[in-house]
Amino acid sequence: MILIIDFGSQTTHLIARRIQEEGVKTKIVLPDEALKNIEELQPSGIILSGGPSSVYSTDGLLIDKKIFKKNIPILGICYGLQLMSQLLGGKVDPGTKKEYGPATFDINQKEKNILFQTIPQQTFGVWMSHFDEVIEPPAGFIVTGSTPTVKIASFEDQKRKFYGIQFHPEVHHTEFGDVILFNFLKVCKEKTKVERKLDKVLKSRINDQSIKNMVLKLKEQIGSQKAICALSGGIDSAVAAALTYRAIGDNLTCFYVDTGLMRMGETEQIKKTFNEKVKLPLKVIYAENEFLKALKGITDPEQKRKIIGELFIRIFEREALRMAQGKPSKGKPILIQGTIYPDVIESKGTKHAQTIKTHHNVGGIPSAHTFTIIEPLREYYKDEVREIAKMLNFPPEMIWRHIFPGPGLAVRIIGEVTKEKLEILKKADAIVIEEIKKAGLYEDIWMAFAVLAGIKTTGVGGDERKYGETIAIRAIESKDTMTAEWVRLPYDLLAKISNRIVTEVFEVTRVVYDITTKPPATMEWE
Ligand code: XMP
Repeated sequence: MILIIDFGSQTTHLIARRIQEEGVKTKIVLPDEALKNIEELQPSGIILSGGPSSVYSTDGLLIDKKIFKKNIPILGICYGLQLMSQLLGGKVDPGTKKEYGPATFDINQKEKNILFQTIPQQTFGVWMSHFDEVIEPPAGFIVTGSTPTVKIASFEDQKRKFYGIQFHPEVHHTEFGDVILFNFLKVCKEKTKVERKLDKVLKSRINDQSIKNMVLKLKEQIGSQKAICALSGGIDSAVAAALTYRAIGDNLTCFYVDTGLMRMGETEQIKKTFNEKVKLPLKVIYAENEFLKALKGITDPEQKRKIIGELFIRIFEREALRMAQGKPSKGKPILIQGTIYPDVIESKGTKHAQTIKTHHNVGGIPSAHTFTIIEPLREYYKDEVREIAKMLNFPPEMIWRHIFPGPGLAVRIIGEVTKEKLEILKKADAIVIEEIKKAGLYEDIWMAFAVLAGIKTTGVGGDERKYGETIAIRAIESKDTMTAEWVRLPYDLLAKISNRIVTEVFEVTRVVYDITTKPPATMEWE
């Protein structure tokens, strides 16, 4: 819900209407009751409306400054922008020229303006109605746009999520006004109409009954036999295991293979989550040496994937045999896998599809093996699997953990995989994730990671020539894995990541950012 504080503008009600058109609730309150309402209603965003007052006149309408300490995004419109400026330490003066009616607004291209980022033009027509103007923004704010008359026609403090615009986005004469309000709603993490519709569709596929049906189907498929589940640490296999555990209880044994191709500290973290939070018994198999040996000298991506897929299966066969020792075996042992639909389609899982890449748990499986494979999520997409995980009460850190491919870092090291290269990549990757988390962007991104590009380039360190490795950073947005857009990470964040990698990972002399969409590129480099 968005709380609108009314300073007497003719168009306050129109702001509410525009927000409601996006399917989001609003409440209009007076300035002196604003703080109380914010504390009671916990809105996801606050809008300070325009109004006829002047912030420096004695009858200027003010507001309790505590609203700026509530950690809630705020958008100030016209008087709202001036008030925000005045209360946070900026300067407002009577303007030299009145600005009523149409004006041309110019986006400051140097800054990454969150409110204007999806507007396809640098200049556009806006509607103004003011006399005062901000002549100095408060500390922490950057100026994001101007008009020929007003230098500071918009500003923002990205860190605190405070935004001010001198013009009125709610009136239809302002071009892209709806886009600006929409972008503010996104900052407030409000769901838009389209997203609400998608949620409904998701709920119609994933609900208590559909989960019951999945468990029932697993019960019928497995009966009284024993099954093993290959956990990768990711959400798909964990959900597949949790559903199977509901169906057959202790007849399920879960394995996690530490291939050595995992991210830094991953095995320990997975053990902890499964033991303490998901409460699924987990057996860890340490197999780094086996994987490195099998991958020695291999540079072709598809070969790598097939070798890894095969080795996984052989290890599971070995473990299944060990489990069955001394006991009569009824039919083929059952292997539960967390394969989802995009894995299937990219591995030529339908008759007329092409193989894009062999996902380790689909095309990577050798045709000769001793298992009956059951894949309860084969028809589902990642967002649906996450919804099931929520319904199974998985901890949020597991649901929102960035996806990691089964073949692990092997497909993020271009060329042969070695222990040394793995160490370099793990360190660089940990820095990427740590900085993205610190910037508060981790959960907004589908996946972010480092790639060891396999290109050596010339650098200079301590006045010496250094011929070192290249790390590529990839950060992508996606909904269902099939298509992806690269994330516009802030330059400052990229600079920090790059500086840290080249100083903390000795072998690296160059860092580049991958700006390709899928298609034509895929998310992983191999
Ligand atoms: P691509 O690179 O195909 O990746 O655009 C799409 C998503 O799938 C993940 N991925 C895999 N997941 N086994 C998996 O379990 C695999 O072999 C595999 N290959 C790619 C990838 O990380 C991305 O999220």
